Amino acid sequence: MSTYKIAVIPGDGTGPEVINEGVKVLKIASDRFGFDLDFTWYDYGGERYLRTGEVLPEAAVEDLNQHRAIYLGAIGHPDVKPGILEKGILLALRFALDQYINLRPVILYPGVDTPLKNKGPEDIDFVVVRENTEGLYTGAGGVLKKGTPDEVAVQESINTRKGVERCIRFAFEYCKRRNQKKKLTLCGKTNVLTYAFDLWERTFYDVAREYPDIATDYAHVDATCMWMVKNPEWFDVIVTDNMFGDIITDLGAMIQGGMGIAAGGNLNPDGVSMFEPIGGSAPKYKGKNVINPMAAICAGQMMLDYLGEIEAAKAVEDAVKKVVSQDLKSLSAGRMGYTTNEVGDLVADYIMG
Ligand code: IPM
Ligand code: MN
Repeated sequence: MSTYKIAVIPGDGTGPEVINEGVKVLKIASDRFGFDLDFTWYDYGGERYLRTGEVLPEAAVEDLNQHRAIYLGAIGHPDVKPGILEKGILLALRFALDQYINLRPVILYPGVDTPLKNKGPEDIDFVVVRENTEGLYTGAGGVLKKGTPDEVAVQESINTRKGVERCIRFAFEYCKRRNQKKKLTLCGKTNVLTYAFDLWERTFYDVAREYPDIATDYAHVDATCMWMVKNPEWFDVIVTDNMFGDIITDLGAMIQGGMGIAAGGNLNPDGVSMFEPIGGSAPKYKGKNVINPMAAICAGQMMLDYLGEIEAAKAVEDAVKKVVSQDLKSLSAGRMGYTTNEVGDLVADYIMG
């Protein structure tokens, strides 16, 4: 029987509540499909930082590196200045573990409401491959004459051939394996970011030559936003840089039913990957048992898929589809018609059959 060592970081706000339901579902799936998940819990997050002054202990990366995957709730605390925990934990782990892909499916499940008029599950079914270790996120840049009228702030976008190429290669491979429309769209801004996206564009068409079966397309990021709303059915896989990927996947989350369902994976295909619901820590709902755990459950499903437990992943996905189409009144916190725990139980029950 396979055993997978999983590091669990519930984090802040409603993170622990949704992660509990995710772990509940993962345990049921592992029992049912005959593998073992060996969970180790880590208390990284805002509370720990406020108590100790430390975002991540020195041994954190080494510890986490001993696992097959990380299951993360949410990072962000109302009493901690914005940026400290995000940079010190979430981004630090993405960078230290070289999780160079952020994979974000935008899939509308049957029965889920989308704000897009006249669009349904057959129209909203694509995946964004976001570069996750470069671009505007590296922290390159600096400030001069801070706090004076002459202040200068520079924040640079770093794009390396190596970083861009491995992301684009992943996207082509993923598109091939997904085996749907077999269309990969590069989302960029070649008309303004003439250095960065020139590199992206050249690399994209270089790699494309190795994938004659995949149709290629290009859209500027602003147009991508427009098409995601107007004609989402045009997309199959979108590949883009870190910042644009961040922005368009929030739009993606909204058209697939909201933060209650949107999940993502920070992938290092040769290392330790980290799976998370993409909504935040939602502190105002903390401890109320009203938050929707479905996004965390979907992140768990992505983790099973990545571990190669395909049948279990499929069973979780089928159960999620049943719950959202048959049981929940809404995906929004407090309006589901069920508590956080009950939603986890419903998914678990459907997996048990
Ligand atoms: C996300 C988040 C993070 C990001 C923040 C919290 C740093 O918005 O995962 O999309 O910008 O990547
Ligand atoms: Mn984001």
